[in-house]
Amino acid sequence: MASNLIGAQEHSNEMRTVAQMVAAQLTRAAIFLVLTIKQGPEHAATIKSFCGDLASLLRAVEFRDIEGQLSCVMGFGSTAWDKLFGAPRPAELHTFREIRAGARHAVSTPGDLLFHIRAKRMDLCFELATQIMARIEAATTPQDEVHGFRYFDDRDLIGFVDGTENPRGEEASAAVLIGEEDAAFAGGSYVIVQKYLHDLDGWNALSTEEQEKIIGRKKLSDIELDDSIKPSSAHNALTTIVEDGKEVKILRDNMPFGTVAQGEFGTYFIGYSRSPRTVETMLDNMFVGRPPGNYDRLLDFSRAVTGNLFFVPSATFLENVTEDQDSGDLNNEDQPAIADSSSAPVEAEPSPSNPSAGDGSLGIGSLKGERRHE
Ligand code: HEM
Repeated sequence: MASNLIGAQEHSNEMRTVAQMVAAQLTRAAIFLVLTIKQGPEHAATIKSFCGDLASLLRAVEFRDIEGQLSCVMGFGSTAWDKLFGAPRPAELHTFREIRAGARHAVSTPGDLLFHIRAKRMDLCFELATQIMARIEAATTPQDEVHGFRYFDDRDLIGFVDGTENPRGEEASAAVLIGEEDAAFAGGSYVIVQKYLHDLDGWNALSTEEQEKIIGRKKLSDIELDDSIKPSSAHNALTTIVEDGKEVKILRDNMPFGTVAQGEFGTYFIGYSRSPRTVETMLDNMFVGRPPGNYDRLLDFSRAVTGNLFFVPSATFLENVTEDQDSGDLNNEDQPAIADSSSAPVEAEPSPSNPSAGDGSLGIGSLKGERRHE
């Protein structure tokens, strides 16, 4: 089991921190649900009481087709974090920062909670979303709901294969899971979502060669363009971030969506990272340009209509949230918002193929030596 543990050594009696299923396999269906929490302590209490039950809801729906790879990631916006949990807070959590440059605008829109639900089958996603909303509907206001689908061989609606350069396996976990740099929130992650609408008529009026220069890859074969012909404004050039000679990766699970009769054709961008700075730098490069003015031409044909940053705490954290815990309690140093995870190993994520407890269970809800925050 040690291969998916990050950080400290494994001790059999020690509490382990289990990450949410951030690095779950790419699936054929997904629902992206963004909600705001209504004002009032009773609504905050509803959300807190729900946090610890998400894992069992997930298990119940997942078990109806265990092969369906159902997963759900729950994230919290900056204001919601303060409302629900107070201090301590994840070091880099803040509200999504809008970017304006020329005709390009990365908007920042309301969002307290994100549910990223993935499965091989849409009915599983739909059922889980229904069960979640049955629990928290009265406490929340929906801001956005997108049902995404895989389009042929993992293409987006502009016709290019999307997701090729994603990190895999342990590289993916290292790219998305917080470690020592914010030890109290180890096993957590940051996620940025943006809903893009495409001007497909404009895009399809371009030649395939022009489109390939915008993306930086061949359209049919998905092979990367040679550096000698790839413009520095290509999408895959501007989203390549190198720090100290090393490429800093993020994990994307973009999904096409749309309503044909209304002429709505879109890509739901979702990018997980260990630090939001990585995605923010990519966005700066795309919208403002690297150097400024050398922007991403994909944005001449794609408009962002939402934008949010969420923190994704570990599954261990979620499991240990209690309803009667208010943010005031969490300011009490005797009662940390997250169990002492700094000395505990972090397990990448629970899944049927990666049972965290070594006993075939999903790990969530069966954490060894867990402490509840009461
Ligand atoms: C309109 C929305 C978007 C579309 C249609 C889109 C599409 C694509 C496509 C087709 C690729 C090449 C294949 C691949 O490696 O996955 C790609 C790569 C990539 N995109 Fe996007 N993307 C969008 C938005 C974004 C945003 C907002 C970001 C980050 C802020 C981003 C980050 C990346 C990264 C990191 C890569 C891989 C670069 C590399 O290492 O080669 N994308 N995208």
